[in-house]
Amino acid sequence: MREKKALSPSRQGNKILPMRIELQSHSPSDTHELGVRIGKHLDVPSVLLLEGELGSGKTLLTKGVYLGLDGRDEEQVLSPSYTLVHHYDDARCPIFHVDLYRLEKPDAIYSLDFEEFLFQENGVTVLEWPRGAKDLLKPEEYLHIEFFPGENPENRKIVLTAGGQQYHKVLTEVRSSCSS
Ligand SMILES: Nc1ncnc2c1ncn2[C@@H]1O[C@H](COP(=O)(O)OP(=O)(O)OP(=O)(O)O)[C@@H](O)[C@H]1O
Ligand SMILES: [Mg+2]
Repeated sequence: MREKKALSPSRQGNKILPMRIELQSHSPSDTHELGVRIGKHLDVPSVLLLEGELGSGKTLLTKGVYLGLDGRDEEQVLSPSYTLVHHYDDARCPIFHVDLYRLEKPDAIYSLDFEEFLFQENGVTVLEWPRGAKDLLKPEEYLHIEFFPGENPENRKIVLTAGGQQYHKVLTEVRSSCSS
């Protein structure tokens, strides 16, 4: 996994500007490894919003995040497309893995007991197809991870954006682990 471009966090007065890093994944294992690196450095609570087309690697990255959080049975990490939410409780903190793809209307999330996973005190929430969930959160409350197609079928461009200090720290660690 090679970093293409990195912008450091910067301040404008007291305001912390978003930090953004752009990575190239050349294989499924690159994407998985990125997830592990992210998981290792997450504090609780954390929220990750994963956006990208079908098959772009959101669930694969989530498997890595789960391992990075010391999860023990990666096989159980599967797309919660039908159940909407999977809960993994064998890692160093509770993990909520959510997939909103099948929600008919984005605002149907209001009928779910959504705050239960979005505003966890001691857990990590990973959302695939976050849809209306973004409107419930402030930009500094989540780490945004976007997947874009690359030049060949095994390539992905992955853009990570951190709005808040907590996630700046995670990206700084991820960036230094990618260059080592
Ligand atoms: N560089 C890459 N990174 C991630 N996945 C890759 C890459 N190259 C090929 N793949 C393949 O793409 C697929 C990604 O599947 P995955 O279930 O993670 O996608 P997803 O984004 O969760 O899809 P969905 O929107 O259907 O939930 C896997 O089969 C994986 O092997
Ligand atoms: Mg998926």
